[in-house]
Amino acid sequence: MQIRKAVIPAAGLGTRFLPVTMSVPKELLPIVDRPLLQYVIEEAAEAGVEEVIIVTSPGKESISDYFQPHPALEQRLAVSGEDELLAKVAEAGNLAKVSFVLQHEALGLGHAVLMAKNAVGDEPFVVILPDDIIVHSPGVISQMVQVSKDMNAGVIAVEVVPWEVVHNYGVVDAAPVANRVHKIQGLVEKPPRDEAPSNLTIVGRYILPPQIFDCLEKTQPGAKGEIQLTDGLLTLLQDHELFAFEFLGNRYDGGTPMGLLRASLAFALDRKDTSEEALSLLREFQDRTNN
Ligand code: UTP
Repeated sequence: MQIRKAVIPAAGLGTRFLPVTMSVPKELLPIVDRPLLQYVIEEAAEAGVEEVIIVTSPGKESISDYFQPHPALEQRLAVSGEDELLAKVAEAGNLAKVSFVLQHEALGLGHAVLMAKNAVGDEPFVVILPDDIIVHSPGVISQMVQVSKDMNAGVIAVEVVPWEVVHNYGVVDAAPVANRVHKIQGLVEKPPRDEAPSNLTIVGRYILPPQIFDCLEKTQPGAKGEIQLTDGLLTLLQDHELFAFEFLGNRYDGGTPMGLLRASLAFALDRKDTSEEALSLLREFQDRTNN
C-alpha cells in the first residue's frame, strides 16, 4: 500500500542543545542553510509522501511559521530579481502538504506519535525523527517503502553499531530473512552491553500500521514518566509482523551539537556552492592544530 502520510515528532525539549533550544526549536537548527526538518521532508516527498504531520508544542510556533508563505519577503526578492533566493524561500512550502498537531507536554516519543492519531486515520504511515539525517539516493524512506511492500508489514530502520556503544540505543532482537532485512522478535531500549540481543540499533525511521495507535493508547508511562514508542511497538509485535531494515546511507546525528557540526561540514564539503570554502576552512583549522 502507498505510504501517503508522514508523522514528524518535533515537540521534544532538545535538552542536548540547551541553551539555544530555550528559544529556537532543535528541529529548525540548520545544516548549512536549511533546517533539519526540511531535509527529512525532502526525503519523505521523494518517497511519495503527500502529507506531513508535524507534532509540535506550545512555544514552538516558529516551526509552523517556517512553512507559511512569506509574501513581503517574496515580493522584495522578486522586485530585486533575486530568483535563486526566491526559489529557496518557496522550497519548504512546495514539498508536501504540511499540517500540525500539538503535544502539550513532552511525554515521550510514543505519546508524540499518538497525538497524530486522528490526522493519520486508518492507513499505514511513516514516522521520521528529524535529528537523524541520512544521505543516500534513493532516500531511506524510499528504500523502506519497497521493503514494506515486499514483506507486506511494518519496517524499522536499523544500523549496525560497535558493541561498545549499544547501551545508548534502542536495539532489536531479530533474525535475518533477506538481504539487509531481519524479522523482529523483540525490542529493548538502551540495554547493558551484555544483555543486548544484537548490535542492530534503531534509527529514526519507522513504517507502521495504524494499529500502533491502539497499542500506544494501552502503553503505560515508563521510568521517566514518558510513553515510549518502543513499548508500543512491543505490544504491536504480539499481533503484527515487523521487520528491521539495514538501510543504505550515511547517518548524521543532528540531535547533538558536535553531530550537527559534523553534518554541516559533510554537507558543505559536498555542495558545489560551498565545497571550496569548506575545504579551505578545514585546511585553516588543520594548520592551526599542526602549529
Ligand atoms: P529526542 O529525544 O532526540 O529529542 O527525540 P528531545 O527529547 O527533544 O532531545 P533531548 O534528548 O532532550 O536532547 C526525537 C524526536 O522526538 C521528538 C523530538 O522533538 C525529536 O524530534 N519528541 C521527543 C517529541 O515530539 N515529543 C517528546 O515527548 C519527545
